[in-house]
Amino acid sequence: MNFLEPFESLSPAPFETSWRSPSNIALVKYWGKKGHQLPANPSLSMTLKNCFTETRVCFEVGHANPGVELLLDGVRQEKFALKIESYLRSLTSMPWLKKVHCVVETRNTFPHGTGIASSASGLSAFALGLTDYLFFLSGVKVDFFRTASYLSRLASGSACRSVYGGFVSWGGDSDLYASPVSVHPDFTHLRDSVLVVSSDEKTVSSTAGHGRMSDHFYAETRFLQARANYARTVAALSAGDFTEVGNMLETEALSLHAMMLTAPSAFTLLKPNTLAAIDIIWAFRRETHLPLYFTLDAGPNLHLIYPESYEHKIRTFIAHELSPLAVKVIDDECGEGPVKC
Ligand code: PMV
Repeated sequence: MNFLEPFESLSPAPFETSWRSPSNIALVKYWGKKGHQLPANPSLSMTLKNCFTETRVCFEVGHANPGVELLLDGVRQEKFALKIESYLRSLTSMPWLKKVHCVVETRNTFPHGTGIASSASGLSAFALGLTDYLFFLSGVKVDFFRTASYLSRLASGSACRSVYGGFVSWGGDSDLYASPVSVHPDFTHLRDSVLVVSSDEKTVSSTAGHGRMSDHFYAETRFLQARANYARTVAALSAGDFTEVGNMLETEALSLHAMMLTAPSAFTLLKPNTLAAIDIIWAFRRETHLPLYFTLDAGPNLHLIYPESYEHKIRTFIAHELSPLAVKVIDDECGEGPVKC
């Protein structure tokens, strides 16, 4: 199916829209691409609640020199404006977009560099605004979120999972867009406390990291492992088996970072305190048998995942034992997905 076909030859008109879109944390990791912005393996994430981006987009016509102006927290950001502009220019099946001038005002509820993916929330919020515009101009009425997921993916892979709440897969049903995954009711309020070990700029971007999978000695084995972990995670989420989900979370996090350490041009994003925190979490689980597990994105910061019913005990442990290793802790939980605002 060609998702953009109904939008290929539209006549631009002015329009304004505003969306709030959350970040997400991958349980099963997307790491490695094939073709144009397609995943080498299926991934599965939990959409967050408190960490989101709010973006107002004003589409203007008749501008002498159409382009993109972007303000982040009220401050003009040339780098992000160019990123959005090159994304819009990459949508070549909609050449009329070149005549549209975009003014983007955006803000995040979480600080940059905290291990919470601002590209997932930021680019999905923009893609939702763009989808709103395309639906307004064309009169199309169906598959709004699927189209938004398709358009988000073209901007940033993990962003395609942020257009739905709860648990979301990409590369299971389709490589082109993400879909919601139904889970046991115990998981609908799962907690995620982000232990921000370092907020320094990453030394290797996600885009470069994906690239290093293309000639990686272990690539095919990793993709096989991710497929198996994906199937096990989907089954465990449906059965309400948190121990299995937790084991999958940690295996996936460690495999992702092992891929970086064993890449032909090796690198690591882990910090000493990341490993210190992992040791403490493992000891805590051994001693208390409480269900606290971690995962990592492409960065040093740990997402600590635990059921709502253990919130008090586990947050007390985090405050006493883990927060001394961190610059800050951000408490979040499973959320319901984007809203138009
Ligand atoms: O969407 P990207 O290109 O920023 O890549 C995201 C990669 C991971 O966050 C490490 C994994 C994932 O599935 O979100």
